[in-house]
Amino acid sequence: MKAIVITEFGGPEVLQIASWPDPIIGQEELLVKVHATALNRADTLQRKGHYPPPKGESEIPGLEMAGEVIAVGSKVDNWKIGDRVCGLLAGGGYAQQVRIHKDMALPIPTGLSFEQAAAIPEVFLTAFQAIKWLGNFQASETALIHAGASGVGTAALQLIKAIGGKSIVTASAGKHDICLRLGADHAIDYKTQNFEKEVLDLTDRGGVDLILDFIGAPYLERNVNLLKTDGRLIILAFMGGAQAPHLNLGLVLRKRLRIIGSTLRARELKYKIELTQALRQFLWARLESGAIRPIVDSVYDWSEVGLAHRYMEENRNQGKIVLRVNHT
Ligand SMILES: NC(=O)c1ccc[n+]([C@@H]2O[C@H](COP(=O)([O-])OP(=O)(O)OC[C@H]3O[C@@H](n4cnc5c(N)ncnc54)[C@H](OP(=O)(O)O)[C@@H]3O)[C@@H](O)[C@H]2O)c1
Repeated sequence: MKAIVITEFGGPEVLQIASWPDPIIGQEELLVKVHATALNRADTLQRKGHYPPPKGESEIPGLEMAGEVIAVGSKVDNWKIGDRVCGLLAGGGYAQQVRIHKDMALPIPTGLSFEQAAAIPEVFLTAFQAIKWLGNFQASETALIHAGASGVGTAALQLIKAIGGKSIVTASAGKHDICLRLGADHAIDYKTQNFEKEVLDLTDRGGVDLILDFIGAPYLERNVNLLKTDGRLIILAFMGGAQAPHLNLGLVLRKRLRIIGSTLRARELKYKIELTQALRQFLWARLESGAIRPIVDSVYDWSEVGLAHRYMEENRNQGKIVLRVNHT
């Protein structure tokens, strides 16, 4: 088969389409002909050599895909050849074929294209895990979502609205419209406004119950200041830096805060299967009714993967960047 390989660690130009061995499926796995995959920030880190795949996983980047089943292992009883599936991967999505465990695969919701379906798994699983499982977010609560127009942010906003809670986002000004359309109650331009002051003003100085953070060190002190008693801070990335100079543990104790870090890729298969099935329960009917939708910013042919990576690294996307995988 053909796949997008990282020829050496470096800029977007190191991504090249090349021949690669076909995946070999296990007894509980499906072989999927990939029609679309989607970009994640992790792919750009992997390309630069900062985020190696977990042991035993494909060196090909790509954490999600949508396609059709072309072979099934001997112990697969829930899928058949021809089924349209999408799913989270630990790697290997930037390829014409990929293997996936039978219980990690999800049916493509009725009415959605391969490109739309490829935009679902990583960001909705991440946001669902953070909001429901780690954050235990309730309808009576308010969340602060940083990078609100990111792939994960656009999923999180819709999940919070579906739960019935309130949300405030930070994002650059040109991205506020999409956040508000997806259910955010307020949007703050973190480049020109002090988000701590703005959130306090918007909440009658009460603060928020849950924060989803991707920025890390430069936001830690303000995030802790903004949490209410029993508040939860979920740290999913540190795009602004990892070494935080100040943290007032007195506030953490007095307010009984929980600061939780999480990643998805290296988790055990059992955990990922449980999360996938829980997301299916919560989300699939909502996707089929159109109440929640995958947010696709742009679709590139996979031969333009370098352009797509550059576009993401310039922070230009609102929602997901999808790659259409060519089989000719
Ligand atoms: N831990 C996990 O399980 C997990 C899973 C999935 C993703 N992630 C991480 O979550 C983050 C979001 O992923 P994604 O794929 O949704 O990202 P994305 O769509 O590429 O969006 C990221 C956005 O963050 C904002 N941003 C970037 N650098 C910033 C900075 N230094 N300060 C403030 N804002 C900044 C930019 O929007 P503005 O124009 O608004 O600045 C940018 O467009 C990534 O770091 C990713 O690695 C973690």
